[in-house]
Amino acid sequence: MGLNANDTSMYDIVEPRASAMIESLRAFGYNLQTAIADLIDNSITAPARNIWLSFCWDGANSYISIRDDGHGMTEAQLIHAMRPGSQSPLEEREPDDLGRFGLGLKTASFSQCRRLTVASRSENHAVAIRRWDLDYVNQVDEWRLLRTPAEDSAQKLNDLETMPHGTIVLWECLDRIVGAAKTDDHKAQDDFLETVEVVENHLAMVFHRFLEKRNRLKLWINHHPIEPWNPFLPDAQATQILPLEPLSFNGETVRVQPYVLPHHSKIDPDTYNKAAGINGWNAQQGFYVYRNERLLVAGDWLGLGGYHKDEHCKLARIQVDLPNSMDSDWNIDIKKSRARPPALLKTDLKRIAGLTRKRATEIYRHRGKVIARQTSTDYSYLWEQKVKHGKTFYSLNRKHPMLEAALNQAEALSPTLKALLSMIEETVPVPLIVVNNSEHPYAQAQPFEGANTGDLLKVVTQVFDTLLRNGWDFKEARNCLLSMEPFQNHQDLIAVVLEQYQRQGDR
Ligand SMILES: Nc1ncnc2c1ncn2[C@@H]1O[C@H](COP(=O)(O)OP(=O)(O)OP(=O)(O)O)[C@@H](O)[C@H]1O
Ligand SMILES: [Mg+2]
Repeated sequence: MGLNANDTSMYDIVEPRASAMIESLRAFGYNLQTAIADLIDNSITAPARNIWLSFCWDGANSYISIRDDGHGMTEAQLIHAMRPGSQSPLEEREPDDLGRFGLGLKTASFSQCRRLTVASRSENHAVAIRRWDLDYVNQVDEWRLLRTPAEDSAQKLNDLETMPHGTIVLWECLDRIVGAAKTDDHKAQDDFLETVEVVENHLAMVFHRFLEKRNRLKLWINHHPIEPWNPFLPDAQATQILPLEPLSFNGETVRVQPYVLPHHSKIDPDTYNKAAGINGWNAQQGFYVYRNERLLVAGDWLGLGGYHKDEHCKLARIQVDLPNSMDSDWNIDIKKSRARPPALLKTDLKRIAGLTRKRATEIYRHRGKVIARQTSTDYSYLWEQKVKHGKTFYSLNRKHPMLEAALNQAEALSPTLKALLSMIEETVPVPLIVVNNSEHPYAQAQPFEGANTGDLLKVVTQVFDTLLRNGWDFKEARNCLLSMEPFQNHQDLIAVVLEQYQRQGDR
């Protein structure tokens, strides 16, 4: 039935009750650290170079403020920003925007405090101030956004006066954190200060990629800088960096980079203990899902393959990078602390998880011999995805050592071979693959799945042989093979082939 928007007899307007609704906005399930991270997302999007966090103890009058030197907001922008649901989650966002729901500022703040005051200044504008006071909204039962700070709050916003632009978010009446504690309640004060450490550790992890880049972002907590915590120990010599795998989904790319961290005997105890992370080695294994470089999930097997957090897999950590255009596919939640992979990616992620777990188990059991340290840069793909005039193409990588060698050797055959390659590229049965994959995602065979070992060995041997005959030395050819699609998943077979060659060489 079509609805006539002008016919008022067709509907009732049922607006949410302000007093009930604003209290419900408190219950999204944040904790202090996830709530603060949500505000930092806003500052980074602003984009701020410095963010200063202050935790001030004064019993029931304690407060927390988050100040940034981002572009700030005009008065009209601030009013808009304070509205719950300031932007629809369906709207497309800038690629580096860390927001999605138009809620975080409000829901994160209300989860921790009953009074949220925001002061903001955009270049060449006066400071604008607005305040949500939960007790006041409750009392008047209307969405009344106050235009002034509370009486004793004004001086907590002073810092903005000397800045050309920036924003201060002030949380007062911290009922969930300090309640009605007296100022001289030392136990409550200690608890409050302990939370500062918890917050610091969380932010060091969630924003490590921003903090690691020079001149990108400095985060200060009660005047001291927060140092980044990188879950992958990429600089440790004994860390194994397995091949990077880009997975395509709806024209977007998810980048999956598995790491196996070093056995404790291979690094100094301090580094090892620090690398354990906030929740310890066992809890911090699994996928690390990043959205625009901001960590959402810190160690989780994402319900894949029935995998559990097993002691022997604790050295496996896998970095997954998503763009913000995949938010709904990955079921990102408002708190930015959950992500669930879409069904079509599960098979690949499960496979990568399985391989990384296997390798991690070997290292854990001390059997892991590093055949070669691999980095993502020397990984060779046979297929490349290209986009031209908005259309996607799949072409063969002409720089792939096998293709290069084949074309070089082809001589008289070369024009025929080139024509054949181009025909292969132009006739990739994309519709068929898409339909089959969406209807039976688990029924698609993986490369060489079900092939007998002898056949696979022949292929690996032939590739290795081709490389050697084309001027690669043994070590280069070995490294190339180890990082060549799809052999990177058959390291045991490569070891067999290498051994055969070595034995031949010895003879
Ligand atoms: N520190 C800040 N500096 C500049 N603008 C800000 C700042 N904090 C919030 N804003 C503005 O307020 C808007 C609302 O913020 P809010 O966190 O509620 O939603 P969001 O970031 O759009 O989405 P999400 O709910 O996913 O966080 C932002 O989109 C931004 O325009
Ligand atoms: Mg936000």
